[in-house]
This record gives sequence, C-alpha cells and structure tokens, in this order.
Amino acid sequence: MTVLIDSIAELREQLAQAAAEAAMNGDAGSIALVPTMGALHDGHLALVERAQELADIVVVSLFVNPLQFGRGEDLDQYPRTLDDDLRVLRDAGVPFLFAPSAAAMYPRGGSETRVTAGGVANTFEGRSRPGHFDGVLTVVTKLLNIVQPDVVLFGQKDAQQAFLVGRMIENLDLPVRQEVVETVRDDDGLALSSRNRFLSADERRAARVIPTILEAAESSADRGVDAVVAAAQSVAMGERLVELDYFAVVDPDTFAAVPDDHRGPAQVLIAARVGTTRLIDNGRVLIG
Ligand code: PAF
Repeated sequence: MTVLIDSIAELREQLAQAAAEAAMNGDAGSIALVPTMGALHDGHLALVERAQELADIVVVSLFVNPLQFGRGEDLDQYPRTLDDDLRVLRDAGVPFLFAPSAAAMYPRGGSETRVTAGGVANTFEGRSRPGHFDGVLTVVTKLLNIVQPDVVLFGQKDAQQAFLVGRMIENLDLPVRQEVVETVRDDDGLALSSRNRFLSADERRAARVIPTILEAAESSADRGVDAVVAAAQSVAMGERLVELDYFAVVDPDTFAAVPDDHRGPAQVLIAARVGTTRLIDNGRVLIG
C-alpha cells in the first residue's frame, strides 16, 4: 500500500515511524527519495526500482514546482495525473507518495531564499529557460531537507539537471548520495518523457529523429567534434516537423562545450521543438 501524504509534518512523522519499525526488524532504515513532477512513466519506475535496491524505505515526491517554470512555459498545461500515479506506485510497492500543494511548499507564495546554480545553469537548457535551474535546485534542496534521504535518484535524460544537482550536493556538502539512472526509451528509441503525451501521431513519428541524431553523432565520433556536429545537423534537417533548439558536445566533468580538437569521452546534448512540445535527450560518445 502507498500512503499519500500532503503535509511536511505528517511525512516527517511517518518517516520517523518507518525508521523505528525498520530498526526493530534489524534494518538500517535507509531512505531513498525519487523526486518527480508526476505523470509517471516507465522512466520513473526505473528510478523507483533502483531506489528499492538501494534503500529500505522509498519516498516518491510529486510536485509540479512553479519556481522552475518561466513565464509562458507549460506550468498550467503540465500533466497532472495523481490517481494514475498513485496506482502505479501502489503496483510498484512504494510505501510513501509525498504530494504537497504549492501552499504547503511555499506558504508565503514563493521563496525569498533560493539556491543559485552558477554559470552552467545559464547554458543549454538554462539559456532557453532563464531561472529554471535555480528553481530546480531550490525545490530539490527543500525536498532533501524534508525527507533527509540517504540517496536521491535522478534520470540521465535530464543530464544538465543531474549534473547541477551533483554539483550542489558537492558544493554545499549535503549529506546525501546522488544516483543517476539510465534513460528508458520506447521501442523506436525515443526517450520516455511526461511531455511525449502532447505529441500528435505525426509529431510522435517525427520525434524519432531525436534518437537518430544521437546515433548519427555516435557513429561519426571517431572523425572528431566537427564531424559529430555536422552529422547531427544533417539528420535533423531531414525532418521538417522537428526544429533543433541546440545540439552541443560537452565535457561530462564540466558541462562546458568541448573545443573542436577534443579527443576522449564527451556528452552530446539535444533539445528540439516538435510542434509546440520541447523535448531533450543526450548520449555519451567517445571522440577519437
Ligand atoms: O525532473 C523533474 O521532474 C523536476 O525537475 C524535479 C527534479 C522533480 C524538481 O522539480
């Protein structure tokens, strides 16, 4: 059974009780947190499964965080499917779903105090979505303070988010370990995303070009950075329903764009508009 909790005080009480019960059974009572914005899919379930391997108690949070949406972004349209999400988590054997209201998280209507994510937050996703990562890091910090987990799990699909959360944990010495879980894909390679449901049938077919771009990048990696970029752009140009926002090759350790003569491991990032839906994806390549 999954207990649905919307109050911070109640969650803390329930977790203290669960930890006490774990101790009586001789378990460490370790806690894993899977932060989500709901509209759960198999990608979230992969995080849950890994969380269950890593800790005794799993908490999934579901909060569509207004702080990370800019003006004109899809905060109001973001899918809200609480009943379905609760069912999915029950089936997966998750004991706690923490789904607070905006008023519970931000009783003053917002947060005067915020975590600032630094320079990397102004690039790629951050350039298209100013303030987005400050909003993400602020809510993640709140969730970590509320749940106090031993491990927190994020998906690799949101590579820049995972990078910045990792940096925040390191920079601020937060007492938690981050686990990043591989992207889950549909049969045709499209990364699972809560936003995929907004695609029309034609757009869904066209979106297949995104993983194809990543495949083209990988297969041209032995010819250098320029070849990777050229291959990606040439594949993207073949699909008129998809408009590339950016394609970039970055150093996984710094998230900075690599120089043209870079050799070695790199991460390729892609963001594209398919109709009105914005999708992101990424992959690892070895530039030779
Ligand atoms: O990736 C998400 O769903 C959100 O950015 C997160 C981490 C739950 C913070 O609101």
